[in-house]
Amino acid sequence: MTSTLTLRRPDDWHLHLRDGDALRAVVAASARQFARAIVMPNLKPPVTTPAAARAYHGRILQALAQARAAGEIDALAAAEFQPLMTLYLTDNTPAADIVQAHAEGLVKGVKLYPAGATTNADAGVTDIARVRGALEAMQRCGLPLLVHGEVTDADIDLFDRERVFIDRVLLPMRRDFPGLKVVFEHITTREAAQYVAQADELTAATITAHHLLYNRNALFIGGVRPHWYCLPVLKREQHRQALMAAATGGHPRFFLGTDSAPHARHLKEHACGCAG
Ligand code: NCD
Ligand code: ZN
Repeated sequence: MTSTLTLRRPDDWHLHLRDGDALRAVVAASARQFARAIVMPNLKPPVTTPAAARAYHGRILQALAQARAAGEIDALAAAEFQPLMTLYLTDNTPAADIVQAHAEGLVKGVKLYPAGATTNADAGVTDIARVRGALEAMQRCGLPLLVHGEVTDADIDLFDRERVFIDRVLLPMRRDFPGLKVVFEHITTREAAQYVAQADELTAATITAHHLLYNRNALFIGGVRPHWYCLPVLKREQHRQALMAAATGGHPRFFLGTDSAPHARHLKEHACGCAG
């Protein structure tokens, strides 16, 4: 008896393609594996306007064409790979930009980085109260909010940043904007998995392979391991187990987001190595 196993080409719902030479170096790796990808906007400077998203989209397509010409991807991958663009939310994002981005159709989500939470998040949101107009516009037009769910308060233990974010930011925001689509990105804790599993159908989450494969011991085995340092940082084994259960439990609102986020090696292997 013969049997066939068909693996569908997956989508990557959280990807950093970077820009310039780095974009050229990494885009083929994603196009070889994935059909569509939600492309993060944390460039320098960040992708804060519909025009910037359009220009970045153009640079990605150009890099794809170069990868195709260099034989790094086949014609099918080059034609099929779809970069889905996002906007970087700031305290000053006008509601009109949200409406325009949605009307043009290229931008598929708006990214909330709490200011300072991660790589290139300095221009992020300092207080949800400042982005109410943008969130109302998103709720009206159905554009999802993609959330880096960590508080940055200095008095909160680094490993509790995600858990505390649920109580301090996410729950009040969901009460104020019950019709807003929210993706809780790269979740790392049991609390986040439980929150999403019990939330209504407008709330989803992405999970990375990194957080399914490792717990926080991986950061320190035999010495400091900078290549295992990604944000949100790895957590205890009990959290990894909860993420595994969420990812394999058949729940329809947990998705893969690789969070592939390359940095130059010398910036990772550094006294103040960067996250990614
Ligand atoms: C990401 C990056 O380098 O852009 N880093 C990371 O550790 N995951 C940003 C992010 O997604 O938090
Ligand atoms: Zn990321």
